[in-house]
Amino acid sequence: MDKIHLKSPKNWINDPNGFIYYKGKYHLFYQHFPYEPRWGTMHWGHAVSNDLVSWEHKDIALFPSKSADRNGCFSGSAVEYDGKMYIYYTGVRYLTENPEDIHTCPGDNFASSQMMLISGDGESFDNMNQKSTVVEPVEDPSIGCRSHTRDPKVWRGKNAWYMVVGSTSGEKGRLLFYRSADLVNWEYVNYALRDDLGRMWECPDYFEVDGAQVLMVSPMGISERRYHDLSVCMTVDFDEERCEMKIPDKYNMLDYGLDLYAPQSTTDAAGRRVLVAWARMPEPDDRGRNGMFCIPRIVNVKNGHIYFSPHPDIEKQFSRRIRDISAADKAGYCVSLDIKDGEHVDIGGYMIERAGQKIRADRSKVFRNHNEIRTVFETPEISGNIHLDIYVDENLIETYINNGEYVLSNIVYDLKKYVRADGDCEIYTLAGGKENEKI
Ligand code: FRU
Repeated sequence: MDKIHLKSPKNWINDPNGFIYYKGKYHLFYQHFPYEPRWGTMHWGHAVSNDLVSWEHKDIALFPSKSADRNGCFSGSAVEYDGKMYIYYTGVRYLTENPEDIHTCPGDNFASSQMMLISGDGESFDNMNQKSTVVEPVEDPSIGCRSHTRDPKVWRGKNAWYMVVGSTSGEKGRLLFYRSADLVNWEYVNYALRDDLGRMWECPDYFEVDGAQVLMVSPMGISERRYHDLSVCMTVDFDEERCEMKIPDKYNMLDYGLDLYAPQSTTDAAGRRVLVAWARMPEPDDRGRNGMFCIPRIVNVKNGHIYFSPHPDIEKQFSRRIRDISAADKAGYCVSLDIKDGEHVDIGGYMIERAGQKIRADRSKVFRNHNEIRTVFETPEISGNIHLDIYVDENLIETYINNGEYVLSNIVYDLKKYVRADGDCEIYTLAGGKENEKI
């Protein structure tokens, strides 16, 4: 059982997949390499939750079993129809083999098919009899790429089902849109692009919230410095009938700590839009688990700006006020404060400061020696007062600024057990936590 943050039971986790509220439970699948704490032949791990707070680990749901997915079940999504769970994912088949490592593909020479698996109950996944290919690998390079077309996100539109996948053509990222009347037969409709944002687009997610149309996408190669691939979000203009998406110049980072990647959203039991994302880790945690998910975040759009705030069911958990973190539950604690210009908060060696109207974070003392990855971060300019809610886990610190106007989250290692703030701060931990279950 994991609380607040989901990790794989062991070894490797990357993108969240198939996130859905189905028959009264949340299902969260994830890209998983079960054998080592590194990326390799992808399976779908699976966890379920009643409340987005506690996660119960289940058996692996999807694994390679067909020629088209023999080298991996890549990312995808799930929808409910007629009581069944329809899972869409990308099946990968390597066309060249690496004799020394069958889990990687030399020279990107592989074929990607969009595939489906139907589960009658969200508990059993018949990998032998319930899988099919719904979109063959793209053969026309002016539309997309045979290998780099992946991560189907499916949703119910006004009159049909829609699928968006990430792709590339001429070294520029793009989206491909498909439509279906029955979830089984899919036709290609259109593409959309912005030609100055990365060479390939991964994990697109499109939804409407607060009357706005939102695109989240993870373009590859948009940064000189590691991580090179970063997730962005923006409001777009989408004509469903023609699958025409106008992608604006203006976008925001999903998260200004730049560790989070490949977010995926669904609607929660109350109809709110909620997302999770993968927090990339340069090395496994102390129990050999590499990668984890952020706190489920609610998405809202106000005045054209996209907000990400902790899910209220998570917020509610942090209700026991403590004086210092030696009384914190091992699922973590939350530090709340108003921060004035020039003030600092030091979370066990992770430094957060306000410099003018920006929030800066510096993890250099709590990141071991991974100097090839950024250690210093900052938000855009924020107007007015600045309030911080900082959720601290032993490996992930998430700083929500002004109720989610911006979020800055970072992976850390070897945090010390103190909090020092220039101004007044309040510290909360889990309501039901035991005092002696220390972080
Ligand atoms: C993003 C990604 C996806 C792909 C998956 C493979 O992190 O590269 O595009 O489906 O991971 O694990």
